[in-house]
Amino acid sequence: MRNIRFGIIGYGFMGQTHAETIAKLEYAELAAVCDIDAAKRPAEQAVEFFDNANEFFAKGRFDTVIIAVPNHLHLEMVEKAAKSGKDIICEKPAAMNAEELQEMITLTQQAGVLFTVHHQRRLDQDFQTAKRVYEERAVGEVYVIKSSLYGFNGNMHDWHIYPHYGGGMLYDWGVHLIDQLLFMVPHKIQTVNARLRNVINANVDDYFNIQLTFENGLIAEIELGTYFLNDSERWFERHWFIGGNEGSCVIDGFQPEARLVRTSELLTNTPSKSTITHAGPTRSFGNPPPGRILTESVAIEQTAHSMFFDNFVKAKNKQAELLVKPAEMLRLMELVDLIRKSSEDAQSYPFDK
Ligand SMILES: NC(=O)c1ccc[n+]([C@@H]2O[C@H](COP(=O)([O-])OP(=O)(O)OC[C@H]3O[C@@H](n4cnc5c(N)ncnc54)[C@H](O)[C@@H]3O)[C@@H](O)[C@H]2O)c1
Repeated sequence: MRNIRFGIIGYGFMGQTHAETIAKLEYAELAAVCDIDAAKRPAEQAVEFFDNANEFFAKGRFDTVIIAVPNHLHLEMVEKAAKSGKDIICEKPAAMNAEELQEMITLTQQAGVLFTVHHQRRLDQDFQTAKRVYEERAVGEVYVIKSSLYGFNGNMHDWHIYPHYGGGMLYDWGVHLIDQLLFMVPHKIQTVNARLRNVINANVDDYFNIQLTFENGLIAEIELGTYFLNDSERWFERHWFIGGNEGSCVIDGFQPEARLVRTSELLTNTPSKSTITHAGPTRSFGNPPPGRILTESVAIEQTAHSMFFDNFVKAKNKQAELLVKPAEMLRLMELVDLIRKSSEDAQSYPFDK
């Protein structure tokens, strides 16, 4: 297989994270870096450094660029990269909106270069485990999926707190969480209802709640709060709840723990007893009797983010399709645009894609 010579533009948090990953890949090397901040020059002498994007694309001796500049610059860098014939891995969100992304797709198609977006969270172990549970119908017919992520300090920083640069949590984490759902559920979305809030950040969203209804009736809810306080154990982590007609699956954490939860017997259409619970008189709610709730452990998928690059090198050598395809990104970005509109107008909208 042909090795990849990478160039990275934007050598901040994510650019440097990519450099660390590349250093561990046997089929890749870091050839060049570009950042307008000369203090970001890498220590390694063998890596060419540029502080100007035009020179980087014109003179840098690399074949694939990773674009890791702030979000409002993705289109500009994709255009420069396509025109200089480089294959492209662009950081998420691919673009500020679907219109920009369509322009990127056209530019890269015209130039005949590979174009993908770094949605490495398709390889998160919790997500891959949820996807397998869904696909294997381990909880029967799934009617609801809840995907959530909570934080405790409202943490937003640098350019992420300004809308102009593409700040806010919908662009930051939202696109990952939404992309996972679209990658998992192979049905069209019928309707979108979303609300974004600035809870403790003045200018950008730091809380959102998104409800998607799929054409098969499945309801998905994605919720993220950067300031969403609770004192339950493992609260400040990633959570999945997958509800089916034969049980539920609960997955917690980035180093996930997963379990299937079932009942030992269904009480539908059995003669009822009057029950007074803490909820008052109800036969449907309150605590189940001992032994009624059964729990099974679930094997965790052993995926890693570096598999994104394993796929990319295969795609570059025409041995595989790209894991993250431009058309999928366009659907995601169109949905993100509609999520913003739904929130601004306080309305639900049809999507039908
Ligand atoms: N996939 C993920 O999990 C993930 C995680 C974090 C960030 N990201 C994405 O990575 C991108 C970068 O985010 P970050 O948090 O690393 O930001 P950052 O601020 O840490 O780094 C951005 C870098 O780009 C440089 N830069 C700005 N303008 C430039 C220009 N015109 N030419 C060259 N360099 C320029 C800055 O000097 C800075 O070093 C964003 O698109 C973000 O959404 C993705």
